[in-house]
Amino acid sequence: MGGMRRMGRLSALVAVVLVTCAATDGAEKDGDYLKPGTNTEDAGALMVKAFNAFSMDLYKKAGSATEGNVVLSPLSAGLLLALTRIASGGVTAQELGRALHLPQYERVVAQGAKALVSSLQPPQNPSGNAVLRLANRLYAQRGLRLMKDFVGKARNYFEADAQELDFHNDQEATRDAINQWVEEYTAGKIKEFMPKEWPATGSMMVLVNAVYLKADWLNPFDKTELRRFYLSSTSEVDVLTMCQIASLNFGNLQQLNATALELPVKGGRLKMVFILPYSVDGLPQLEAHLDHLNIKAIPWKERTVAVSLPKFHIEATHDLVSQLKELGVQELFTTNANLFWIAEEEAYVTDALQKTFIDVNELGIEAAAASGMAVLPKHSTIPAEFDANHPFLFFITNEEAILFLGRVKDPRQK
Ligand SMILES: *[C@@H]1O[C@H](CO)[C@@H](O)[C@H](O)[C@H]1NC(C)=O
Repeated sequence: MGGMRRMGRLSALVAVVLVTCAATDGAEKDGDYLKPGTNTEDAGALMVKAFNAFSMDLYKKAGSATEGNVVLSPLSAGLLLALTRIASGGVTAQELGRALHLPQYERVVAQGAKALVSSLQPPQNPSGNAVLRLANRLYAQRGLRLMKDFVGKARNYFEADAQELDFHNDQEATRDAINQWVEEYTAGKIKEFMPKEWPATGSMMVLVNAVYLKADWLNPFDKTELRRFYLSSTSEVDVLTMCQIASLNFGNLQQLNATALELPVKGGRLKMVFILPYSVDGLPQLEAHLDHLNIKAIPWKERTVAVSLPKFHIEATHDLVSQLKELGVQELFTTNANLFWIAEEEAYVTDALQKTFIDVNELGIEAAAASGMAVLPKHSTIPAEFDANHPFLFFITNEEAILFLGRVKDPRQK
């Protein structure tokens, strides 16, 4: 135990030395980390671009992991991963940067995240009744010596406050506390966020992101009826379909063999965009060409549109570990991970998941997501268990000679 402690200190020392080296290295880069003209707004735009590219990649992985409906929030996962990127170095950082399409320089990532997070905070004077909220949180083991720099960056750039919990002594209570926060934050839409086996025994930290939005359509649907929905060219079902005729942004995406429709909501700048392949069987083709779809550059034309849209409700759980591994994020999930910047303990990520919810009906949309990552120390600091509740041997020695030895089979006997 004592030996373990000393080793822990030693590796902490190594980490500090590395931090110092890296800081010098960073200072040299600092001069050009923001190319002339790269201000905070540009950093924000770079992050939006990065996350949108990551969205398409993650969607492909999530889409191929299931046969059915999909809903995910790449933003929710992306923010946690960008925060992790800031606390990482070496190959771990490179892999995260590549998978997330992040700008090269850490400060651009940080400033971009800040611009993005603040653009998603509710407006000071909310008009209409749209609700959009997003939060990041760090739950750390009580007494864990977090790097001040990391805590500062998490707060300043990601609006992520750190809160202490006691994972080691009361795993269930910590899970309940985190789950309760997620449930409240998402208006009850994400319940039991962390499964029973979370957080893994010995966890030192759980990073959580939650997103919730609820908004009413600018033009609510006035009619709902059973209509045919073609599952494929050979299979059809009747589903509740909402209908309206309104003046809306409509786009023809000829190169993708699809049309696009934008449904705006009351208040705020939120909108929902639907992309419909020309043909009944067209979705796989469209998915294969997702990289060519730039949501921000759809050639919208305002037109009178007769809209029919099925009502839908999807709830999903995504194993982010396997999806991220497929996107090239490997080292983060091994004990080789380089997360020196989080805490004095060397750490790696063991679990990552996302739960999502969406409901689209006549009045509007409601959607929620929560993402979480469990961070474990490489050198476990949880007390090992020694519960002598069955017969055992004992020795008394002076470290060389055995002075006494014996056994206890029944402690009641003399
Ligand atoms: C669009 O349809 C045309 C004609 O059927 C086809 O040649 C082309 O590959 C399709 N493009 C995409 C992106 O699906």
